[in-house]
Amino acid sequence: MNYNIAVLPGDGIGPEVMGEGTAVLKQVAELYGFTVNLEPGIVGGASIDAHGKPLTDAVLNLTKQSDAVLLGAMGGPKWDGLDYSIRPERALLALRQELGLFANLRPVKLFAALASASTLKKEVVEGTDMLVVRELTGGIYFGEPKGVTMLPDGTERGVNTEVYTTPEIERIAHVAFQAALKRRKKVTSVDKANVLEVTELWRKVVTRVHKKEEGYAGIELEHILVDNCAMQLIRNPRQFDVVVTTNMFGDILSDEAAMLTGSIGMLPSASLGGKVGMYEPVHGSAPDITGQDKANPLATILSVAMMLRHSLDQGAAADRIDKAVEVVLDEGYRTADIQEPGCKLLGCKQMGQLVRDKIAKG
Ligand code: IPM
Ligand code: MG
Repeated sequence: MNYNIAVLPGDGIGPEVMGEGTAVLKQVAELYGFTVNLEPGIVGGASIDAHGKPLTDAVLNLTKQSDAVLLGAMGGPKWDGLDYSIRPERALLALRQELGLFANLRPVKLFAALASASTLKKEVVEGTDMLVVRELTGGIYFGEPKGVTMLPDGTERGVNTEVYTTPEIERIAHVAFQAALKRRKKVTSVDKANVLEVTELWRKVVTRVHKKEEGYAGIELEHILVDNCAMQLIRNPRQFDVVVTTNMFGDILSDEAAMLTGSIGMLPSASLGGKVGMYEPVHGSAPDITGQDKANPLATILSVAMMLRHSLDQGAAADRIDKAVEVVLDEGYRTADIQEPGCKLLGCKQMGQLVRDKIAKG
């Protein structure tokens, strides 16, 4: 088998973590007898510098023709002053929309070795293992009308619109229920149905999908308001299995949930729903540590594992990567973001190398 992978390192620490991610990918390809053709593309701030816009047609076409997309991170202070329409983040939103990636899977699993790396108490976070299913191509991120207009009195008016249609809610609900079938069979749907009509519809449609589909009868469905969910996440995270929610609530709650695992530097993600899946670490470009070999490459390496599992049908290779990461953490190796007293502190490159050493040992 040969797979074409579009590799978009992006900005900040993106290229550093991507270097370790692709090295792991090449290694498992060799071990499991398939080949990968890595096709690099420039996106985000780097593309603004080179081409005046965050995503060129050439790179978009490259992703459309690939078997999967691997993404680093985008943005940085250098481009913060730009108009919204050409900011680095636009590339990410355009890729999601153009590739039809409506389902964002963000597994929030605490590695046992990191139970005391979190800012929260060990007793609270221990055993955390949930999957955040975030709707990714709808809601307030894309709804119309939007924009800022000047009013006759010289003041301005800013608008964004939260919109969801029945089919958009149905398809993300199915993703959540299907995922729950392979896990602990519980879905928590998060909304603000006590105030927002659009999420009242969300709740109604999710309930209907659950009732209608015979195969979902064994799944427990619970609805929770987003403010309560934010609280429950740090009060008792073990109560959650699959959490399904809107684009913006998912953005916020997945950052919060990341802290349960010790660091956002640990979290991989998969964006699915179209022909081509896109895989990226949840963390950003971290301009404060860029170029210092301090970044945690594990989220990217774990994203490579998700790609192998969801897009390339190479589950055994994915398991081997997950296992290697677990062993490295069990042995006390840490990057700066998850360091603890007495740990063995490593840079980005050393951490990547160590994971590869463990993969090689099997
Ligand atoms: C994320 C990020 C993006 C989002 C930004 C960079 C546009 O925060 O993937 O969670 O808001 O979706
Ligand atoms: Mg976010």
